Amino acid sequence: MITPKKISLAQIPTPLEEIKFEGNSFLLKRDDLTGCELSGNKVRKLEYLLADAKSKKADIIFTSGGDQSNHARATVIAAKKIGLNTKLFLWGKESSAANGNLFLDKMYGADIQYFSEKEYEKVNDVMFEQRLSLLKKKKNAYVFPGGGSTTLGIWGYINFINELKKQIDLTKIDSIVAACGSGGTAAGMLVGAALNKLNIKIVAVHVLMTKKEMEKHILQLAEGCVLDYKLNCKINPENLVVVDGYSKEGYKKISQSKIKLIRKFAEETGILFDPAYTGKAFTAYYEKYLKTGKGKKNIFVHTGGLFGVFARTKEYLE
Ligand SMILES: Cc1ncc(COP(=O)(O)O)c(C=O)c1O
Repeated sequence: MITPKKISLAQIPTPLEEIKFEGNSFLLKRDDLTGCELSGNKVRKLEYLLADAKSKKADIIFTSGGDQSNHARATVIAAKKIGLNTKLFLWGKESSAANGNLFLDKMYGADIQYFSEKEYEKVNDVMFEQRLSLLKKKKNAYVFPGGGSTTLGIWGYINFINELKKQIDLTKIDSIVAACGSGGTAAGMLVGAALNKLNIKIVAVHVLMTKKEMEKHILQLAEGCVLDYKLNCKINPENLVVVDGYSKEGYKKISQSKIKLIRKFAEETGILFDPAYTGKAFTAYYEKYLKTGKGKKNIFVHTGGLFGVFARTKEYLE
């Protein structure tokens, strides 16, 4: 087994809390508390990705995402901590009134290139072309794919399972539920569970791709990680449950019924969910587990995204 190196960026272990909502208790793993500017699930992946970028003597980091990408913002800030600048390739438009994550990207001095939704389909080609032209000038751009979901980045969520195992007896838990975008969080948890020989379901509430594409992508990442790092475990595809239908309004939008639930939850518990990921995933968790009294056997992971709220204040207050 090969264990990759990491740098320390995240405030971990994050708490596992018992929360009561509408009279039902459930378990909430607070990965929104991995830091302040550097909050959410992305930081765990960046600990590995940036260690690798540093060891490969990167001059600059390239990464991509939506204009409110949490991964993009976390990359910009984390890279600064090791003295590197980032170029972002974002799906969205330049705005002098940038807010939320985009505000932070600008504030931390990221170089940003914007793409329309159509142009964004070719974003990886554009990043690699620019990487090549920099290489010709002897400059090394290290590319993190969107969401930081590589067989290296997902180590953050392999370790997450080891962390959670110290907080609760996972043999008594049926599933761990989290929002899913680029699939790395779910893939890492699948590998972590397999390494610990846990027969636990990893439930990924996806907000971006189709269910089929997402299942394939998560399993490829998990199996790729087992092979790349010569891990002594086997991934059981049946332990992956991809949940569909909670982002029908579109990745960049959120329905008023979900906002209503987010606000009620915030008023009762003090905990806030974001519009792109956790608000949607929590709606699924609420309907499938919490309302039916299964909250103590099924853990919900708050994967962060707080800054995305500030780009949607109008909808939140409607
Ligand atoms: C707040 C938040 N939650 C969940 C996710 C999904 O994680 P992953 O991309 O690893 O599937 C993301 C990013 O995509 C995110 O920013």
